[in-house]
Amino acid sequence: MYVVVFLSSVILLLYFILRHKLRYWERRGVPCIRQNFLSSELDWLIKDKSRFQYFKDIYDELAPHKYGGYSVMPLKIMIRDPEYIKYVLTKEYDSFSSREKLFFTKTDPLTHFIFNLEGKEWKDTRAKLTPGFSSGKLKHMFELISECASEMDQTINITAEKTIDVTKFLRLYVMNVIFTCTYGLKVNKMENGCEIFLKMAGLIRGGSNFSKKLANFFFILPSAIRHYVTSSAYGTYSRDFFKKIVLDCIRHREENHILRNDFLQIFMTLMNADDETKWTIDKTLAHGILYIMAGFSTTTSAISFLLYEMAKHPHMQEKLLQEIDQAFQESDGNLDYDTVQKPVYLNKIISETMRKYCIIGSFSRRCTTTCALPDGFVIEKGTAVVVSTSGLHHDPQYYPNPLKFDPERFNEENKNARHPYVYMPFGAGPRYCIGERFSILMIKAATMTVLKKFSVSILPENDFEFIFMPNKLTTEVEKINLQFKPRENMKKNLLII
Ligand code: HEM
Repeated sequence: MYVVVFLSSVILLLYFILRHKLRYWERRGVPCIRQNFLSSELDWLIKDKSRFQYFKDIYDELAPHKYGGYSVMPLKIMIRDPEYIKYVLTKEYDSFSSREKLFFTKTDPLTHFIFNLEGKEWKDTRAKLTPGFSSGKLKHMFELISECASEMDQTINITAEKTIDVTKFLRLYVMNVIFTCTYGLKVNKMENGCEIFLKMAGLIRGGSNFSKKLANFFFILPSAIRHYVTSSAYGTYSRDFFKKIVLDCIRHREENHILRNDFLQIFMTLMNADDETKWTIDKTLAHGILYIMAGFSTTTSAISFLLYEMAKHPHMQEKLLQEIDQAFQESDGNLDYDTVQKPVYLNKIISETMRKYCIIGSFSRRCTTTCALPDGFVIEKGTAVVVSTSGLHHDPQYYPNPLKFDPERFNEENKNARHPYVYMPFGAGPRYCIGERFSILMIKAATMTVLKKFSVSILPENDFEFIFMPNKLTTEVEKINLQFKPRENMKKNLLII
C-alpha cells in the first residue's frame, strides 16, 4: 500500500515538474507553439519534413509576433523581426557568440571544428582560417575551380537534345572542386575515385537511413546530454578513410617540398607555426571534413536549382546566355577570375535562387550571458535563438508572391528598399559563412561553363514546385531532370558520343 502511494506521489510530482517545464514560454508571457515532451524539433524527424519547411512552418505559426518560443527542452526561441535579428547577430553579439553545435561530442576532436567553437577559441580559429578565403587566395584558387569546370564540361558532351539529371554531374564537380582546393586531389582522376568519394561524403553522417536519423536525433538532443555522448557522428570507415588521405597528402608534400595554393597548405603552415594555440593534425582533419560537409550538398543544390529555374524561364535564360557569351568574348573564351566577375544579371539570378531555395533553412545563436531584447524581454543564458531563413525568404511582406522566381527582386532599387536582415542565405554577423565567396565562385564557374555550350529546358512532367527531401540538414531534392540542347554556336565544336 505504502509503495503504491509512494510511486503515485513520485509520478504525480514528475508530472507537475514536467508540466511546469513545458509551460516555460507561457509562464514568461511569450507567444509560443504548443510543446512536445522532449523537443518540438522531434517533429522534424517524426513528420519527415525538410528543415526548409519545418522552420518556415514555425515562422508562419508565430506570425505576427516579433519572436516566440517553440521548444523548452532545450529552450529555443525564434526571432522573426529583422531589427531584433540584427540586434542579436551584431549589436549584442557578445551575448550571442555561440551557436547550436553540429554532431559535437566532447570526446571526439574531429567535431571540434570552427562551426562548433566558442569564445576565444572561435575567434582565434576564425582569424587563422579567414586569410584562406581572401580575394587574393580565391583568385589563385579560381584556377583550380576553372580546371574542374572544364573537366565537368567534357563529361557532358552531347550532340542532340537529351535529358540529364543535373545533380549527378554537379555533385561530382563540386566534390572535385572541394577536394582539389582542400587537399590537392582530383577525385575524378582516381580509379573508382568519384564513386568512392561521393559515397564517403554521404557516409560522414552515417550510411543507412537509420544511422542518418540517429545522427539527426543527436543533433536535436539538449546540449547537456549531447556533449557527453561518447560515440562519434562519423562512421569509423569514413573517418579512417579521410584520415589516411590527409596524412598521405601531408607526407607527400613534405617529402617532395610541394607548395600549393590550397586549404591544406594553409593548415600545414598553421601546424608549423610557432604559436601558443597550436594547430594540431586533428584540427586539420576536422576542418577538412567541415569544408566538405559545409560546401558539398549546399553548393550542389544551389547550382542545380539555378539551372532548373533557367530551364523554367527561357526569357531569363536568353538574357543570361547573351551576358555569358559577351563575358567569354571579352576574355578570348577563357574562364578566369575576371570573366566570372562580368555577368551582372548572373548575380541577381544567384541571389534569387538563394532566396527562393534557401539552402540552409535556419541558423542559430546560443545565449552565453543573460541578455535583454530591445523591448526588455530577458533571454536566459543557454537559450537558443533561432532565425528562420526559409520563413523570412518566403514572407510575402518582404517578397510578394514568394514562390515566383524574379531576379529583379535583387536590382539595386529593390535591394535598398528592403531590410538587409530579411535576406541571409549565408547567415549574418561575425559568424556568417566563411565559404560564401568560395561557393559563389563555384556556382558561377559551373553555370557559365554549362550555359556556354548548352541551353536548358524542362519537360512538362518535370515542371513543378519541389517538395524538399526530409532528414537532411540542407534543402535538397533527389534529382533534377533537364533537357540539354547544344547551342547553335557550339554544335560544331562538340564531340559525338
Ligand atoms: C551555397 C553554399 C553555402 C551556403 C548556403 C552556406 C550557408 C551557411 C550558413 C547559413 C552558415 C551559418 C551562418 C551563421 O550562423 O550566421 C554557414 C556557416 C559556415 N559555413 Fe557555409 N554555406 C555554404 C558554403 C560553404 C562552403 C563552400 C564552406 C567552406 C569551404 C563553408 C563553410 C562554413 C563555415 C566554416 C561556417 C561556420 C562559420 C563560423 O562559425 O565562423 N560554407 N554557412
